Amino acid sequence: MADARDPKTKLLQNIIWYAASAAVSCWVLLAGVRHLENNREENRRAIEQRKQLFKRLGRTLIHTTPYEASCDVVNPDHIDVEFESIGGLDSTKQALYELAILPLRRPELFTNGRLLGPQKGVLLYGPPGTGKTMLAKAIAKESGAVFINVRVSNLMSKWFGDAQKLVSAVFSLAYKLQPAIIFIDEVDSFLGQRRSSDNEVLTNMKTEFMALWDGFTTDQNAQVMVLAATNRPSDLDEAILRRLPMAFEIGKPGKSDRAKILKVILKGERIDENIDFDHISSLCGGFTGSDIFEVCKQAAYFPLKEFLQEEKDGKQSSAPRPLSQMDLEKAVAASRKAKIPTYEAGGSTFWSPRVDPDDSLVEFLSLYVWNFLNIFCS
Ligand SMILES: Nc1ncnc2c1ncn2[C@@H]1O[C@H](COP(=O)(O)OP(=O)(O)O)[C@@H](O)[C@H]1O
Ligand SMILES: [Mg+2]
Repeated sequence: MADARDPKTKLLQNIIWYAASAAVSCWVLLAGVRHLENNREENRRAIEQRKQLFKRLGRTLIHTTPYEASCDVVNPDHIDVEFESIGGLDSTKQALYELAILPLRRPELFTNGRLLGPQKGVLLYGPPGTGKTMLAKAIAKESGAVFINVRVSNLMSKWFGDAQKLVSAVFSLAYKLQPAIIFIDEVDSFLGQRRSSDNEVLTNMKTEFMALWDGFTTDQNAQVMVLAATNRPSDLDEAILRRLPMAFEIGKPGKSDRAKILKVILKGERIDENIDFDHISSLCGGFTGSDIFEVCKQAAYFPLKEFLQEEKDGKQSSAPRPLSQMDLEKAVAASRKAKIPTYEAGGSTFWSPRVDPDDSLVEFLSLYVWNFLNIFCS
């Protein structure tokens, strides 16, 4: 056995000791450098995000934190949806203009007294595909307000502890960029009724959101509005509904609105002059704006298919023929065949179609069926 007092053994022990300490020091140093690298990467990303934000907004003279720079912000000038590009919904558009757009565009008209304060919360609710998201974008465009899109997936996907900071960044950025609209699409997924299954991060985020929102509601000078949209208003928390005093139902379009939607969608397209929009509209009973858009898209393929067939057959034509009434009729029939009645999956909330005075008997009957289903399923 080696004697520990032997000078050779002692030397060996020392060498091993120094080698081990050198290895540990190197490891600590490397870990430190790697951490600094991470920070550098994050800083680089934050600077890049800020540059993107300034580019989108066309302004540079605002100080933003990295959390604010990561918000999904849209310059109203870059929004391509106007009230004109939304078919029908005339009375809703008029009311939104007076109550939501005017206070942002002409704030001076709303400063006298407490009765005419600017709106701080607006809710758009109704079945999917009826134009709620379009309306929200159009409000931002028409009011010239910066549009801040809040998606719960964006807030949650970031690092766990950052969710609350991201929520407060939404409000602080809105305040810096005002007039601003904070838009929460599918608000029920973020601010729905509290459930015992909610995780702590979501609960804290909701609480933080409400507290900051209240701060703005009491600040009469803040030109910041929360605009929310949902397909499931019944899933919303009571506390949220109280904060959204102005609610607009965006229902399924009636016959005359469907004709207007058809006209808006087909505006600027190559179409036959003699299309009877009222007739096509009457064939589309129960369709939403989104269904009508799909019908038009499908109809637009018929002239193209014919053109390709003619080319194959060696016939000479310079361009596909314009879209005809027959194309639309065929597309409606195909869509009807494929269509399953729209109802909220798993729920008992059936949406009834909006009925205009000029709607046909068929639609009135369909309304009775809807109502029957409502009673039967609730
Ligand atoms: N009133 C409308 N006028 C024109 N297009 C519409 C209308 N409603 C819906 N659409 C079409 O349907 C699509 C989906 O609409 P969207 O606003 O996303 O519906 P929602 O948010 O209510 O689910 C739009 O991109 C548009 O093409
Ligand atoms: Mg939507």
